[in-house]
Amino acid sequence: MVNEALIPVVVNGAAGKMGREVVKTVAQADDMMLIGAVDHNPEVLGQDAGIVAGCGELEVPILNDLQSVLVLATQEKVQGVMVDFTHPDGVYENVRSAIAYGVRPVVGTTGLSPEQLDDLGEFAEKASTGALVIPNFSIGMVLLQQAALQASKYFDHVEIIELHHNQKADAPSGTAIKTAQMLAEMGKTYNPPSVQESEKLPGARGSVGEENIRIHSVRLPGLLAHQEVIFGAPGQVYTLRHDTSDRACYMPGVLLAIRKVTELKSLVYGLEKIL
Ligand SMILES: NC(=O)c1ccc[n+]([C@@H]2O[C@H](COP(=O)([O-])OP(=O)(O)OC[C@H]3O[C@@H](n4cnc5c(N)ncnc54)[C@H](O)[C@@H]3O)[C@@H](O)[C@H]2O)c1
Repeated sequence: MVNEALIPVVVNGAAGKMGREVVKTVAQADDMMLIGAVDHNPEVLGQDAGIVAGCGELEVPILNDLQSVLVLATQEKVQGVMVDFTHPDGVYENVRSAIAYGVRPVVGTTGLSPEQLDDLGEFAEKASTGALVIPNFSIGMVLLQQAALQASKYFDHVEIIELHHNQKADAPSGTAIKTAQMLAEMGKTYNPPSVQESEKLPGARGSVGEENIRIHSVRLPGLLAHQEVIFGAPGQVYTLRHDTSDRACYMPGVLLAIRKVTELKSLVYGLEKIL
């Protein structure tokens, strides 16, 4: 018999590296129930999400039509949650669809533009539907960002290096952009120029946002997800670094987000807001 208190969860991108980890984690959570799995990969279509994830049969087939799975979710007594780990190209539409069906999105996919985030925020607000967009689910990264904010009180010069596996589609990473935004919100002007620079190769000095903080992106096989925030001052360099070695590091954050989004009525951005 279906337990009506369980949170119904749809995993979008269920056959991907993160999606498979989420399927496993949701299947093991006592307060959740996997009710749908979606992926565009034709090789896994119709296969059981649990078998694909490597945790045994869950009797949830992977489908390629998000809309029909969202319709299914609307039939549950408890409002459902859609966890999205897909691709920057499709995430905006996925989130809009979930909100339109009253299914709360928990978004791990990176690459949403500030305009798209604003738009989704307005849409969620109008629909009174909670939504969470989390560029990084690891607690260690939240701690790094907090340490960076502390350091920014004492250092005027800072640059960010983010390093990821070479299957990552977007650059710079959502986490690096978010870290730069958080530093910018401290209301400081960073990196006052000391010389007139010229790039011999375009991009040599990385990308620079409004905050005047440079972000450098490295993509190599063998890496997973890593970030350094480097502060410089005369006579000293202070480096903060976070390394992930297994996607399991994201799962406590994903579980927390699924539980928290059910209490929200609008879009919230960043794990630190729900810790
Ligand atoms: N927020 C975080 O903490 C965090 C951590 C790791 C990765 N990510 C991000 O999550 C996303 C997925 O990463 P991954 O490593 O699992 O990638 P992946 O390529 O292994 O998996 C993506 C899966 O989504 C499927 N897919 C693509 N577009 C789709 C669509 N429109 N609808 C349904 N399925 C679709 C693909 O077939 C694939 O199976 C990326 O944007 C990545 O940057 C975020």
